[in-house]
Amino acid sequence: MPLINLFEYEERAAEILNEARLGYYSSGARDQISLRNNRDAWETIHLLPHILVDVANRTTKTKILDTPISMPLIVSPTAMHKLAHPEGEVATARAVGKAGTIMILSTLSTVPVEEVAAAATGPIWFQLYIYKNSKDTERLITRATEAGCSAIVITVDAPVWDVREADSRNHFSLPEGMRLANLTGDMSSVAAQDSPASGLGANLNKYLSCSNTWDTIRDVQKMTDLPILLKGVLRTDDACRAAELGIKGIVISNHGGRQLDTAAPTMTRIAPIVEAVGDQVEVLVDGGVRRGTDVIKAIALGAKSVMVGRPILWGLTVDGSDGISHVLALLHEEIDTAMALCGCPSVDDIKADLLQLPHDFSGR
Ligand SMILES: Cc1cc2nc3c(=O)[nH]c(=O)nc-3n(C[C@H](O)[C@H](O)[C@H](O)COP(=O)(O)O)c2cc1C
Repeated sequence: MPLINLFEYEERAAEILNEARLGYYSSGARDQISLRNNRDAWETIHLLPHILVDVANRTTKTKILDTPISMPLIVSPTAMHKLAHPEGEVATARAVGKAGTIMILSTLSTVPVEEVAAAATGPIWFQLYIYKNSKDTERLITRATEAGCSAIVITVDAPVWDVREADSRNHFSLPEGMRLANLTGDMSSVAAQDSPASGLGANLNKYLSCSNTWDTIRDVQKMTDLPILLKGVLRTDDACRAAELGIKGIVISNHGGRQLDTAAPTMTRIAPIVEAVGDQVEVLVDGGVRRGTDVIKAIALGAKSVMVGRPILWGLTVDGSDGISHVLALLHEEIDTAMALCGCPSVDDIKADLLQLPHDFSGR
């Protein structure tokens, strides 16, 4: 039986992956409260669809940072795709390009950025972790730029690595023959620890900088002419500061519930942040987006686009590049249908008046 939604992909992937890989992909930090709340938050909003609108000619196409995309949905950076499939990030790049949208490649990719970019048929943005040694950071930016990546997405919600208890329990490490392919030497290995700690957490706490400030972001701006986005913003004051610095986009994210547990559900931060920054920066959001109606809600709240993380890994696990193509096709069909049912022939027609927020049983 073909799988018909993202939840079925998740269930199927869970049957395929071993405990350590599944634990790494699926879990959140500590009590996994942010992980659950991210998902639940989308379900608390109700839609108020327009009726009797001609939706015969409609399109899901839109743009993000001047880049045309087939739908308001791009692919979040997730680490280590070879845990899901031997082709790893190359398979992902092929499927995402075919779907007409953007892949954000993780610093912690298991295929080097040059190989991923060479296989890509669509735009690749590079997700950057800032290393203690600024030369390592600069080297990553140069490689990503020379490979053809068209934006840098700096992840700012991980000064230290929070504990995902499944990874501690499973002594998570990378299997023989796999490495963090954008890095060299010890930085590229994720070895099992003697203590009940995850090998990844140990690696990252050792090499990633925990002393980054807004000055560090200014330093990174000097290293590149590419547009920069900050990923992991939840506060309006931080969003405004990013805008003042000339950052082009911000991603409202709590790292899929994998960093600070009990951090606010991302859906709840869209409206305040969009109101605070206005048109100065483009706002994206990720965390728990699994249905076309979630996408409509995000856009109606003011986001330019959503991003999805885990569902891509489930597609890759189940059927490699074709699995991701199918996951993205399912999402596209759901967005298209939800737009039609909401009376929105274009993404620009998706406005706040479609939303009935929790406890608001008043007007319209
Ligand atoms: C297995 C896994 C690995 C991830 N690796 C990274 C990473 O390397 N860099 C990063 O900025 N975010 C990383 N993230 C966070 C995602 O970019 C994204 O914020 C999150 O997955 C979105 O939530 P969703 O999975 O519910 O869609 C990772 C998430 C998962 C699940």
